[in-house]
Amino acid sequence: MSTLLIKNPSQIVSPRPGSLRGAALNDPVVRTGESVLVRDGRIEAVGPLAELDTPADARVLDASGKAVIPGLVDCHNHLVFGGSRADEFARRTAGATYEEIAASGGGIARTVQATRDAGKDELRELAEARVNRAMRHGVTTMEVKSGYGLDPATELKMLEVAAELDAIHPVDLVPTFLGAHSVPKGMSKADYLTQVKEMIPEAAKLARFCDVFCEQGYFTPAETVEIMELAVRHGMLPRLHADQFNAIGCVDVAIELGAVSVDHLEAMDEKGAKKLAASDVVGVLLPGVSLFLDIPYAPARTLIDAGCIPAIATDFNPGSNMTLNLPLMMSLACMQMRMSVDEALASVTQNAAHALRLERVGCIEPGWQADLLVLDTNNYRDLVYFYGENLVQTVIKKGVPHAAR
Ligand code: NIG
Ligand code: FE
Repeated sequence: MSTLLIKNPSQIVSPRPGSLRGAALNDPVVRTGESVLVRDGRIEAVGPLAELDTPADARVLDASGKAVIPGLVDCHNHLVFGGSRADEFARRTAGATYEEIAASGGGIARTVQATRDAGKDELRELAEARVNRAMRHGVTTMEVKSGYGLDPATELKMLEVAAELDAIHPVDLVPTFLGAHSVPKGMSKADYLTQVKEMIPEAAKLARFCDVFCEQGYFTPAETVEIMELAVRHGMLPRLHADQFNAIGCVDVAIELGAVSVDHLEAMDEKGAKKLAASDVVGVLLPGVSLFLDIPYAPARTLIDAGCIPAIATDFNPGSNMTLNLPLMMSLACMQMRMSVDEALASVTQNAAHALRLERVGCIEPGWQADLLVLDTNNYRDLVYFYGENLVQTVIKKGVPHAAR
């Protein structure tokens, strides 16, 4: 049995358990004068030091003057891919749009080629270096999508890389099959749809979720339903890329399918926002994409004020957001989407864990997984206030401390 005492932090701040919306987003538990006792990877107790049943041989982490919050969950991430699109970034800074670059043979197609060409070891090493960076910024659980293979061998290779990395890395990786990310070069839409459906039984052995890029020029709402119905029959849960550039009815489809989340929403109008807010589908906000592509921000305020369950993620990928810094996404959500710090915190912990259907993750309560961050500040709000900096000092994953710097 291994025990860890996180001793005397200045604050222990956590959202309350549950999928949070409305006023509950702004109601974290803030404990002062308390410590956390962790046993065998779970939080055993939180309370005044004298009241904790700390064994003599417990490992002690002195957290005086530091704030403690839950580990962060990045619930939308394209971690595994080969190649670089730095040249496309240069084209965009010179004025080309994401859609123009994709139409000229760049974009997703470029990364697909590079990912097909890369060996499994190379992909795993690239992904490992990235997940290390994410962890240093406080991420303890991350979703990992396929979607840069667009053929059976490479889609499965990506999911296998995610599984192999999950087995050796402290950060938990949650796999999503995104075969319907784009139509590969040299293939008709109809043929590729057939192939995606053929991939589903194998993909379902490796992936918990199925995602579709539901967007003009990619997959229609009707095609999305076709794919998702089969995915659900094979045990995967639906989540969607929706309303990124155009609102074409994908959110309606997600609600009808009972999807776990709709992600992006930059092009969502007020009517769509209210409809989503009235459902149990999590709205995953990706403010880094708006900054990186210079497109509008999702209507976070309208969504949250209407009662939506919000989450915030990076959407780390080579085309539309090249960062693994989830706290920076929280800062953007606060600065550009007018979210409160507490709403942002709930959106990367409890609600992001809910978007990945994780049990007892994302909260500091007895019985919950001991995924915790010790911040190099006495005020948890500094994590967001010092934007673009890294205030994470120690990442505790399942009760094991890892230095973040
Ligand atoms: O989530 N929107 C679709 N897919 C990615 C971008 C993929 C790429 O450009 O490589 C996204 O933004
Ligand atoms: Fe994405």
